[in-house]
Amino acid sequence: MALRSLWWDRSTTPTPQPPTDVTGEWDVVVVGGGLTGLTTAGLFARAGRSVLVVEARHVGAGTTGGSTAKASLLQGTHLSGVARKHSHQVLRQYAEANREGLAWLDRFCTQHGVECDARPAYTYATTAGGESSARTELDALEAAGIEGAHWVDRPPLPFETRGAVCLPDQRQVDPVALVAALAEDARAHGATIVEGARVQKVHGREPTLVVTEHGTASAGLVVVATNMPILDRGGFFARATPARSYSIAFRTETPAVDGMYLSANGPTRSLRDVVDPDGTSLLLVGGDGHRTGSATSETGHLEALRSWTHEHFPYAVETHAWSAQDYMSASALPYVGPVLPGVEHLQVAGGYSKWGLTNGVAAALAIAGRVLGDHQAWATAYDPWRAHELAGLPGAVKANAEVGVEMVGGWLRHLNPGHDEGAGEVSTVCTHLGGIVRWNDAEESWDCPLHGSRFSPDGSVLEGPATCGLRRRR
Ligand SMILES: Cc1cc2nc3c(=O)[nH]c(=O)nc-3n(C[C@H](O)[C@H](O)[C@H](O)COP(=O)(O)OP(=O)(O)OC[C@H]3O[C@@H](n4cnc5c(N)ncnc54)[C@H](O)[C@@H]3O)c2cc1C
Ligand code: FES
Repeated sequence: MALRSLWWDRSTTPTPQPPTDVTGEWDVVVVGGGLTGLTTAGLFARAGRSVLVVEARHVGAGTTGGSTAKASLLQGTHLSGVARKHSHQVLRQYAEANREGLAWLDRFCTQHGVECDARPAYTYATTAGGESSARTELDALEAAGIEGAHWVDRPPLPFETRGAVCLPDQRQVDPVALVAALAEDARAHGATIVEGARVQKVHGREPTLVVTEHGTASAGLVVVATNMPILDRGGFFARATPARSYSIAFRTETPAVDGMYLSANGPTRSLRDVVDPDGTSLLLVGGDGHRTGSATSETGHLEALRSWTHEHFPYAVETHAWSAQDYMSASALPYVGPVLPGVEHLQVAGGYSKWGLTNGVAAALAIAGRVLGDHQAWATAYDPWRAHELAGLPGAVKANAEVGVEMVGGWLRHLNPGHDEGAGEVSTVCTHLGGIVRWNDAEESWDCPLHGSRFSPDGSVLEGPATCGLRRRR
């Protein structure tokens, strides 16, 4: 079965448009048509700015279109990670940012007829260590001022657990229907969205030039919403690790779970239901994540997810399987703001650590607020150049040490003749910063373990910070 996200086979899937020339002058150019970029575009377009969105593939083609799409303030055990690394004030600001993101998302979906279902969120444990982490998460929720969270001894799951934190009344969406509605809304407010145009370079100031395969756009403000910024300024590659994980959808007739679940201990398992337009139900199972380009067999990870599901939901029939990646921030906080201190005309947003549904919307609100003069106090938690962000540096150093090991190991493999059977026509040297790509046997792609660039078998860029394809061998 070819890997393809469930969301692309639903009736809400938008039709990609052929690329057009982007040459022209704009108030704002947004690079990237995912949740962050399209929300940003809509906010600026509503404020009367002329806006161009440049998307390399098609809207939602990145992480957003492969997301599990739970929009929740209970985020596995992430909040306790923020609490460990940052002050009480930053923890509360992070919670407030996500609360704002969730409220905006819910309002937008209601106003635009996008499915947005209320569900309780659970972080459940199956081991003693997991129980301890889940209870620590409950403490972090309380410290962050998130009301309504409580402990449940027996969450309604068809297997034994050691209990769970529960936060009622969170949301789950169809992320592709959501980006389609965001794109339509941005267009309705005058924004232009060009799909199929990869940005190769962003340079200059007043105006800033955005160079693509289909012309050069100039703008007073450029927002790079490519998840991992494609720019080499700001050192964002050193702040986050690319993590790939797997999702499988199963048909189940009636809903197999009545909430959104994430395990507190390994192996990570994420569960939610999806109601199909014909009224039948699907169970979505996710997990088995790892650093991009580091698995010995991606297929093996998918198989692990399948066999776990067959054990616990034996009646479930598989319909779709896919994989996606997000960037795990070393500071546990997203980086949202100027690419360098004082460089206000060039903003970046990303590093959501797999919680981008609320964080991505909040990032867009933070950037729009910053530029349009409506600064939100909570946005300080996202600022990439504040002292608290730099507190994540020890984690970043560790991540970079791993990058160094990957780099050396990759080059040793590269220099060892015969290591890259299957490379065929293309070089295995990543065009981003020279990492050595590895073959992904589940998705048939070349994946770079350094910063997560991925390439198709013919070498063209699929995703990540690389802006040009693998070189062809002579
Ligand atoms: C398996 C998985 C499950 C997840 N589940 C959840 C969840 O349940 N809840 C939650 O809150 N979060 C979840 N996340 C995280 C969330 O989906 C992401 O953080 C969020 O979608 C990121 O949105 P984005 O718009 O910033 O990035 P993307 O959706 O990746 O958008 C970036 C866009 O930029 C484009 N682009 C890249 N380079 C260029 C270029 N050079 N020129 C032009 N365009 C370019 C890409 O094609 C892409 O469309 C999950 C992530 C993964 C991997
Ligand atoms: S993604 Fe940076 S070197 Fe490959």
